[in-house]
Amino acid sequence: MHILVTGGAGYIGSHTCLELINSGYQVVVVDNLDNSKEESLRRVERITGGSIEFHKLDLLNIEPLDALFSQRRFDAVIHFAGLKAVSESVQAPLRYYHNNITGTLNLCNAMCRHGIRNFVFSSSATVYGDPEAVPIREDAPLKTTNPYGRTKLVIEDILKDLHVSDSRWNIVLLRYFNPVGAHEGGEIGEDPNDVPNNLFPYITQVGIGKLDKLLVFGGDYPTIDGTGVRDYIHVVDLAIGHIRAMEKLKTGPGLAVYNLGTGVGYSVLQVITAFEETTQVAIPYEIVGRRPGDVAVCYAEPGLAEKELGWRAQRGLKQMCADGWRWQKNNPDGFR
Ligand code: NAD
Ligand code: UFG
Repeated sequence: MHILVTGGAGYIGSHTCLELINSGYQVVVVDNLDNSKEESLRRVERITGGSIEFHKLDLLNIEPLDALFSQRRFDAVIHFAGLKAVSESVQAPLRYYHNNITGTLNLCNAMCRHGIRNFVFSSSATVYGDPEAVPIREDAPLKTTNPYGRTKLVIEDILKDLHVSDSRWNIVLLRYFNPVGAHEGGEIGEDPNDVPNNLFPYITQVGIGKLDKLLVFGGDYPTIDGTGVRDYIHVVDLAIGHIRAMEKLKTGPGLAVYNLGTGVGYSVLQVITAFEETTQVAIPYEIVGRRPGDVAVCYAEPGLAEKELGWRAQRGLKQMCADGWRWQKNNPDGFR
């Protein structure tokens, strides 16, 4: 089967390409390299012994995208391409709406023109906003607090409408919780352009001495130790979730929505302790005020994915720490 992977050079995309190739899929990647390097794909080729056809292409440019669909016959599309930094989206909402929503519209239009109707979309737990109850089920109320999250909600709605308009579409919406870690070989991983916004890459950069100390945002949440609780999921487990979603598409599911999380929440302090114990590297930190927009607790009810996709996360927090650290240590400057 031939799969088009948008945003495939990025963090989750590159790990998913690896699993796709290992599962026997032919992979074509389009990416504008706005937040990634082509080197990630070359490394995936090296690890797997497979090959990836790469097109440096922006989803905002309709013609080259359409030309690609004319040249190649894809069986399905996995759509990772998008901007993902919450705080940046507050500063530059129009850029986020345009890139994420227009890019998706262009992609869906090209798929319509070429009769491709199998689609997997990277959604996010951010669509649950501040959840009323945990663990969060897929049928929980949807709401979000920032422009990035609104792009995910709008795209989910667009895809739901598309399926209503034409039931030949098969669409799987995957709501990721907090992807962390790296492939166990330490050759590919997360490579933030600037100072990381997210907890895990921040910790690993403190670990190698690039950053002095971690600021822990909020010590007064109603949680086990006052710090925020999240559902961290190993990026390889997440990537494997996409293979299960591809298999689901083959059964003609219509529109389906799944949480991809572990179902277990850890606090920031628990993550720091797990990291220190696993790597024997000290992480100096200071507890400061809450980060605006953060929620206290967020973790998944992952049972639906287990029941319907036969998928369940296998890798625990210590492995996330060990694998993320190996990537960071081996590649202090990422893919550069
Ligand atoms: P990433 O930034 O590493 O990957 C996204 C890729 O898309 C990048 O390589 C970027 O260059 C590319 N891209 C962006 N806009 C594009 C455009 N207009 N045309 C072509 N390529 C474009 O991010 P990631 O962490 O791998 O996330 C992948 C997807 O998963 C995103 O849609 C993100 O919103 C979603 N997601 C991520 C997380 C997370 O914490 N990492 C959580 C939930 C959902
Ligand atoms: N945190 C710190 N210090 C930091 C960074 C984070 O204390 O320097 C804390 C946060 O306050 C939070 C936890 O660590 O309690 C996790 O924060 P992240 O920024 O790593 O992740 P978020 O849960 O805030 O958000 C991430 C993605 C979103 C996505 C969401 C759900 O950034 O895009 O997971 O999938 F929507």
